[in-house]
Amino acid sequence: MKVVAAKPFFSKEDVDSILGDIRVCLETGALTFGPSVRKFEQMFAEYCGVKHAIAVNSGTCSLEIPLRYFDVKDKEVIVPTNTFVASANTVIYAGGKPIIADVRKDTLDLDPEDVRKKITPKTKGIIVVHLAGLICPQMDELKAICKEYNLFLIEDAAQAQGATLDGKKAGSLGDVGSFSFFPTKVMTTGEGGMITTNDDQLAEYARSLRHHGRVGVLHSRLGYNWRMSDVNAVIGIHQLKRLEDFVNERNRIAQRYNEGIAEIDNIDPFPVPKNIRHCYYKYPVELKGKLNAVELEKILIEKYDISVATLYRPPVHLQPLYREMFGYKEGDLPNAEEILSRELCLPMYVGLKDEEIDYVLEALAKEVR
Ligand SMILES: Cc1ncc(COP(=O)(O)O)c(C=O)c1O
Repeated sequence: MKVVAAKPFFSKEDVDSILGDIRVCLETGALTFGPSVRKFEQMFAEYCGVKHAIAVNSGTCSLEIPLRYFDVKDKEVIVPTNTFVASANTVIYAGGKPIIADVRKDTLDLDPEDVRKKITPKTKGIIVVHLAGLICPQMDELKAICKEYNLFLIEDAAQAQGATLDGKKAGSLGDVGSFSFFPTKVMTTGEGGMITTNDDQLAEYARSLRHHGRVGVLHSRLGYNWRMSDVNAVIGIHQLKRLEDFVNERNRIAQRYNEGIAEIDNIDPFPVPKNIRHCYYKYPVELKGKLNAVELEKILIEKYDISVATLYRPPVHLQPLYREMFGYKEGDLPNAEEILSRELCLPMYVGLKDEEIDYVLEALAKEVR
């Protein structure tokens, strides 16, 4: 049996309706700035419980646009090391310096204690990443720090569509939320991104910046082509309609993994606080025995044809670019470095069959020690 780490899900019924709606785009010529983009934005804003959702063409520019709005040029922005490199790169694109901070070993999310240590007079804001789909449980502490030091808080919710904290959706918890719709994500548009905010001025700025800085009929700022096409928005509309089902199914799969793993020594899931609904973009586990994550990953692929994912090895501060640009080295962020040697993510996607989950659990039962 071959089990892949992640893939998108479209029911046959959804494929047919998506194709039908794309046909309308083609026949009417409404391929960009059309009704599907507007509808997707309205639906997404409503879903997240925010005033504005602005569709763009990646989860990278949905970070860069707010960073430009907050004017981070020659300033510092604190970013966790345990994330996809885009979270930190966007600070550089916007002219700022990413200050890479450590994560907590129990959540893999940003550690507020380390954030406090890294604040300087140049700090302008914080990007919190809801890694794997777990909203950072320390959001209250991070918000308090932002208030104390007058910093902005961007939620990088690229992996957290549908996740909630005290019933509130990811993307509605900071000054602005940023989503990615890359194909492995909880919902996809192929490529795409979304900015969510209650801030009217930021929303106006984002709409302008994604369209080469246009204000009215003039181009008054330096923007870029960061527009989402209607074809991508059509896919997004149909995926968003399924998002609650997707999150429920991912939780069901996680529950089956939890039950299986409870029977196996030296491997544990990461705890999920009661006030959080995880959306399980990934299902990370912690190895507690002799075997490290790299060794187990190799065994699973070579002996069982099971692919796993990592979040993220190496972490941002140990990527060659960050070593070269900022001089980071081993030992700088000890929590992340230690936990990442013992963490990997089991296959997780809608469409994963029970027999595939059980096959993964059997392999773990045989190999983990
Ligand atoms: C945490 C995080 N931030 C940002 C991004 C960038 O999103 P995109 O690939 O859509 O540009 C991703 C996705 O890959 C991500 O996982």
